[in-house]
Amino acid sequence: MKRDLLAINDFNQEEILGLFEKSVDLKEKRQKGIEHLPLKGKTLGMIFNKHSTRTRISFEVGMFELGGHALFLTGDQLQLNRGETLKDSAQVLSRYLNGILIRTYDHNEVIALAENATIPVINGLTDLNHPVQILADIFTIKEKLGGIEGVKVAYVGDGNNVAYSWMMGASLMGMHLAVACPKSCQPDPVPQLCGNGKVEIVEDPFEAVQNADIIYTDVWISMGQEKDEENKKKLLHPYQINQKLVDAAKKDALVMHCLPAHREMEITTEVLDGKHSIVFDQAENRLHVQKAILEALL
Ligand code: CP
Ligand code: NVA
Repeated sequence: MKRDLLAINDFNQEEILGLFEKSVDLKEKRQKGIEHLPLKGKTLGMIFNKHSTRTRISFEVGMFELGGHALFLTGDQLQLNRGETLKDSAQVLSRYLNGILIRTYDHNEVIALAENATIPVINGLTDLNHPVQILADIFTIKEKLGGIEGVKVAYVGDGNNVAYSWMMGASLMGMHLAVACPKSCQPDPVPQLCGNGKVEIVEDPFEAVQNADIIYTDVWISMGQEKDEENKKKLLHPYQINQKLVDAAKKDALVMHCLPAHREMEITTEVLDGKHSIVFDQAENRLHVQKAILEALL
């Protein structure tokens, strides 16, 4: 039976820990230059209807390093955006490819694609969620802190797709997540949570970072939400990750951002380039964790 990764809880806690073990192994192999080609002869189709640096490149490089091949496809170049149905496209792609990665707007399209494809579908970000990002983020936390259970993460900023996946991931992995955002920016809809983690939504960023091991943020204006820019900038101004906020967390708290960052908006340059920041290790881990996901699903 094929398996998809459309949301974090398509995997259970044990499976995620297994993915993390595999990620450690793949990272080590890469560092030592050990060849590992389990996906020889396999092709991943990557459909992007939104921009991407990390997701696109890490999946493409990941497929190459595992011995497979990746095809970069934009919606505009496919018949899909000229009216060929998703159902027909899913069936045709399933005859050529071994897996599909898709980044698009409407999450329901990704669900429909997965339902009609006979090959695994991986969600590379929708307006609703961003599961591969948060899996790599939790792996990064485990790598840096040695464990994840009970770790407190303060997500400060817009209650967007990244916040939504964080809520699912923290709950599933037994973490404590405090999401701080203005009322009108709170995650909507709220995900169904499983697992024994603690997830709370507060308005005060200083309350969220109290005792936090990790301070996390994302852009204030997600792709496709540009019309809301001025309003969001005003509302989210008090939620900037700056030195004052970092000083209110645990002494050795780490700062994460899924990137791309807008310096001096959601995060100051001082913090992004400062000693608490692990953002580039976090970005690198996208590659290792996604290779583990590809190996598991394809
Ligand atoms: N964090 C992330 O998904 O980055 P890209 O938009 O560059 O893929
Ligand atoms: N929330 C952001 C994440 C980018 C990786 C967006 O959807 O644009």
